[in-house]
Amino acid sequence: MVPTVIPMTGTVGAEIHGADVRNDDHWPTIRQAFIDHSVITIRAQTITPDDHIAFAQRWGDINVNRFFTPLESHPNIAVVLKNPDDTTAIGEMWHTDHSYDTAPAMCSILHAIDLPPYGGDTCFASQYAAYDALSDPMKTFLGGLSAWHSSRHAFGAATLDHEQAKGGRLHNQDKATQDALHPVVITHPLSGRKALYVNPDFTTHIEGLAEPESKALLAFLFEHCQNPDYQCRVRWQEGDITMWDNRALWHKAINDYAGHRRYMHRITVEGCALTK
Ligand code: SIN
Repeated sequence: MVPTVIPMTGTVGAEIHGADVRNDDHWPTIRQAFIDHSVITIRAQTITPDDHIAFAQRWGDINVNRFFTPLESHPNIAVVLKNPDDTTAIGEMWHTDHSYDTAPAMCSILHAIDLPPYGGDTCFASQYAAYDALSDPMKTFLGGLSAWHSSRHAFGAATLDHEQAKGGRLHNQDKATQDALHPVVITHPLSGRKALYVNPDFTTHIEGLAEPESKALLAFLFEHCQNPDYQCRVRWQEGDITMWDNRALWHKAINDYAGHRRYMHRITVEGCALTK
């Protein structure tokens, strides 16, 4: 069977039906859909953690997340878990995975193992679309700027008393020492398209601007970038794999399933330094 690629919106995202991530013949369709749509949901995968790892390795080396709890049997898989009693979900603020690294992860691959009876969707916002919608003078201004990203405030000692650290869902707070400077507008390493590369969770300030200027500019960009016109929303079914492009998207886990469990396996794949 040939896999079918169905766009989720006119801007970003696609579902893939009839594909098996283990099948070499399906790989070219999956790879091209990822480049074209930035986030793909490959429905109904009956795979093991080893299959998940093998699929991730088609894209590149695995980048083990320092802060998420690893799966005991497969430490290069991170557990993304919300228990029925937890009030917070991992990743519920708009963000781009690993933007605090000097070579941020290229993609993340999330496998849905156990889902709540409703809710628990993941939203994505295209930073290509956010860039394209800006005026030419704003594009020129932003094109000359770089911004700092950090893991310290999000995963460091200050978070030790948060529910996710106390409950063992996040760890290694002492390893949250990463700061990275990236262009505010990047050229995507695969597509060659321009994308905005700042995000509300990890970007701290714009290099060289006075603090009020940096705050005002980031506030404008954070509001602009989450326009629903640039978004798609993944409604998970058990077995789905969703993989997203961290150089072209923000994402956000929706925390609307109080009292229920949601359990996913996530792998991030190594990226490269980002350039204008
Ligand atoms: C994440 O931010 O990586 C988790 C997304 C999700 O759980 O939907």
